[in-house]
Amino acid sequence: MDRRIEKLSTLLTADCRVCVLTGAGISAESGIPTFRDAQTGLWAQYRPEDLATPQAFERNPPLVWRWYRERRARVLEVEPNPGHRALVELAARVGALTLVTQNVDGLHQRAGSRGVIELHGNLSRSICHRTLKPVPEDYLAATPGEPPPSPHHRDGLVRPDVVWFGELLRGDVLERAFAAAHACDVFFSIGTSAVVEPAASLALAARESGAHIVEVNRDVTPLSRQADTVLKGPAGEILPRLVAAL
Ligand code: OAD
Repeated sequence: MDRRIEKLSTLLTADCRVCVLTGAGISAESGIPTFRDAQTGLWAQYRPEDLATPQAFERNPPLVWRWYRERRARVLEVEPNPGHRALVELAARVGALTLVTQNVDGLHQRAGSRGVIELHGNLSRSICHRTLKPVPEDYLAATPGEPPPSPHHRDGLVRPDVVWFGELLRGDVLERAFAAAHACDVFFSIGTSAVVEPAASLALAARESGAHIVEVNRDVTPLSRQADTVLKGPAGEILPRLVAAL
């Protein structure tokens, strides 16, 4: 592992363009459950079709609202971990770093990362379920209801600003993520099972454009065989070691 980290560190020079994709695994060491862990993963305990689809919300808005409110409260109780912080440090050492995340927990931003591209939205924001217009926090605080009615549409309700199964990602967000993947010299896939599209295709886009692909993961994923460097283990240990080697 030390030799692989050392070799990788020689690529991460002051003019290197880096693109990083993160998934739930980077927040695991902060105490946030991942989705696909066989025991503790959210999708081992709940059915996504009951909680994370537009149909689920239409069917039972209070159930979905309360589930997301609990997840939101949980995220506020935890702190970014050394993996999140190492990415802030890495951004300061290389030419440019674009951080793309599938996570909705906001922990990268709390660690100090700037310009984070959030593919799947953010738990801390809310939108109208009819118009998808943003709903301000002070409106939420002042308006009762589980969920409260939307301020933008007579038949609308407030919902979390996250992407649900069956929904399209925002076009401009996706475009920026793919542009960064195509333009980078080194692409990191960190703490993601690399199975959910279109995020999983970012690594392939980077590879097509000639980038060096690095995977940091506790386990093997479909990307592992195609990665140029595989660093197997917890992101909160590996990323600080990598940054220390620069
Ligand atoms: P998953 O739960 O699918 O995968 C988490 C990955 O992190 C797995 O490959 C684990 O092996 C790895 N992992 C766990 N702990 C780790 C650690 N400490 N260090 C490094 N790796 C670790 O989560 P995602 O890939 O993020 O989408 O899932 C992608 C999307 O599927 C999510 O954004 C969510 C979900 O359904 C939506 O809600 C739209």
